[in-house]
Amino acid sequence: MSTQERVGPPSEPDFVVVLPEDGQTRNQDEEWCEVVCDGRRRRIRFHDYHDVYGIPRLYEHLIYHRLECRSPQVIAKLLDDVLAARGSDPAELRVLDVGAGNGMVGEELRKLGVDAVYGVDIIPEAAQATHRDRPGVYDGYLTADLTNLTPDQRATLVDADLNTMTVISALGFDGVPPHAFAQAYNLISTPGWLAFTIKEDFLRERDSTGFAQLIQRMRDEQLILPLAHERYRHRLSACGKPLYYFAYVALKEWPIPEHWLT
Ligand SMILES: C[S@@+](CC[C@H](N)C(=O)[O-])C[C@H]1O[C@@H](n2cnc3c(N)ncnc32)[C@H](O)[C@@H]1O
Repeated sequence: MSTQERVGPPSEPDFVVVLPEDGQTRNQDEEWCEVVCDGRRRRIRFHDYHDVYGIPRLYEHLIYHRLECRSPQVIAKLLDDVLAARGSDPAELRVLDVGAGNGMVGEELRKLGVDAVYGVDIIPEAAQATHRDRPGVYDGYLTADLTNLTPDQRATLVDADLNTMTVISALGFDGVPPHAFAQAYNLISTPGWLAFTIKEDFLRERDSTGFAQLIQRMRDEQLILPLAHERYRHRLSACGKPLYYFAYVALKEWPIPEHWLT
């Protein structure tokens, strides 16, 4: 037995997503579905983004429609509320969107009226999907490893004069590591804005990703001034259980010292 749903008008390339119904609870980075597309049935792990982005609309359908993800909307609303409360205009924001994927966060930021959005993602399929599905949303989009930027990539981001960093649904697991988070944070201006979402487990004391420690230290040493946070349901798991994340908005008051990075 499986849950199937046909997608897309008949004139478009079509696929069917089948979620496992074996009752097993899997770790978030082990979840998978089967996709029937062009007469082929393939098992795709949710976190194999090169495969997911390769099929137009699969990410939107699976993660946002079937599993009800709302992280981009939650962080956009929290950021908008903070800006309003502080009398700041979204049009002043020049954003570095880290782990930008196929551009869903950029799209929400545009709706707020931000001035500029630059995306960075480590896999080329993310940039390709963004150009395919959301052309024009980003002022620039780099396929780059933030811990090892080329001189040209660094110059592009420095010249973009960025004052805000967003990282949505991309921290932990085999995603953006603390070192890349820190490098990106140091690329935006001081003062600047920081908005990110993170799985609640990664903020607990026993967290092994390094984020609980990094963020606590940034708070303790007053590198950031936390302005708002919200615990929310990021999405459902493949077997329908809620997965909880925190959304954070903070002011960047100091860069991360170089010796933290070494
Ligand atoms: C769950 S997706 C989120 C995409 C988008 N932020 C959203 O909310 O729809 C995570 C993204 O982070 C990217 N990613 C993983 N590791 C990364 C790294 N070290 N640097 C930049 N991007 C990374 C992945 O390629 C993937 O596109």
